[in-house]
Amino acid sequence: MSAPAIRLKQVVKTFGPITAVDGLDLEVPTGICLGLLGPNGAGKSTTMRLLTGQAIADSGSIDVLGHSLPSDGKRARAEMGVVPQLDNLDVDVTVEENLAVFARLYRVADVPDAVDRALELARLTDRRRDRVDELSGGMRRRLLLARGLVHEPRLVLLDEPTVGLDPQIRTQLWSLIDELRGQGVTILMSTHYIEEAERLADEVAVMTAGSIIARGRPADLVLEHAGRETAEIYAAPAALAEHRERAEAAGLRVRPAGPAIAVMGAERATDGLIPESAVRRAASLEDVFVLLTGEEAE
Ligand SMILES: Nc1ncnc2c1ncn2[C@@H]1O[C@H](COP(=O)(O)OP(=O)(O)OP(=O)(O)O)[C@@H](O)[C@H]1O
Ligand SMILES: [Mg+2]
Repeated sequence: MSAPAIRLKQVVKTFGPITAVDGLDLEVPTGICLGLLGPNGAGKSTTMRLLTGQAIADSGSIDVLGHSLPSDGKRARAEMGVVPQLDNLDVDVTVEENLAVFARLYRVADVPDAVDRALELARLTDRRRDRVDELSGGMRRRLLLARGLVHEPRLVLLDEPTVGLDPQIRTQLWSLIDELRGQGVTILMSTHYIEEAERLADEVAVMTAGSIIARGRPADLVLEHAGRETAEIYAAPAALAEHRERAEAAGLRVRPAGPAIAVMGAERATDGLIPESAVRRAASLEDVFVLLTGEEAE
C-alpha cells in the first residue's frame, strides 16, 4: 500500500489557554475524499492551517505527500492546492489574470494552457476577460476553486467550500469537487454540512474538541452508531420525556430532533415501545453526528 497523502500523529496546537487540536491522529489515504465533519470550534480550520504551514504545531508529527512539516513545508505546499473559506480573489483584474498569477507563482511550465484548463473547469471560459467584481457570487466561488487547482495538485484542501452559499451554487461546486474526485485527486474537505459530507466524502472523520471521535465510510458509520432505522416521535414535551425514558431503558439511543425526539435502532424496538404515530425512516449520517457531538446538525 502506498503511503497516505496526509498523516498527523498526536498533533497538539494550543492558542494560549485554548487547545484547538488535542492529540489528533488522522491519516488520509491517497485518492480518497475525506470529509472532516465537526461543529463550530472543533479544530477543523486549525488542522487545515497546520497542513498548509500557516500554523505550527506545539507537538506531534505531520507529513504531507511524503514531506515532513514544518521543515519541508515549502515542498509540500508546491504540490497541494488550497481553497480558502474566504474569497481572496484580486477584484481589480480579470478572471484569467487571477489564474495566471497563481500559475506563475506555482511555476507551471505552460501558463496559458493551465489558465485555459482552469477556465474550462470553472466553466468561465466566456467570462475570462471580465473583471472579478463583475462576476456573480457563484462564479467567484468557482474561480476560487479553479485557482487552487491551476497547478494540477495531487492533493487539495477545501475548508468549508460551500459555507454560506445558496443551494444552487452549492450544487455547482459539488459537481466540480466530484469531478476532481473522479480524476483521483486526494481531497481533504472540512464541512459542517452533513449532506455535503454524505454526497462527496468516501470517508468521514467526526471531529470534536480537537480530536477524531469516529471515522469510516458514511454507510458504515450509520450502521455502527445509529443502526438501520430511526423513529421520530412528535408529542408534547412531557410525553416525549416519557418516550425517551422508555426507549433508553430498552437500550436504544435517543437524540433531540428539533421539536421531536429521534429513537435510533428502531428496528430492534419491541412491540409497543414506539408509538404508531412515529415517523420511521432510514438512519442517517445526521443521526450519527448529533449522537456523537451532541450538536444539532445544519
Ligand atoms: N488564531 C487563533 N487564536 C486564538 N484562538 C484560535 C485561533 N484559531 C483558532 N482558535 C480557537 O481554536 C478553536 C478551534 O478553532 P477552529 O477555527 O479550528 O475550529 P473549526 O472547527 O474550524 O470551527 P468552525 O466550524 O467554526 O470553522 C476555537 O476555540 C477557536 O477559537
Ligand atoms: Mg473553520
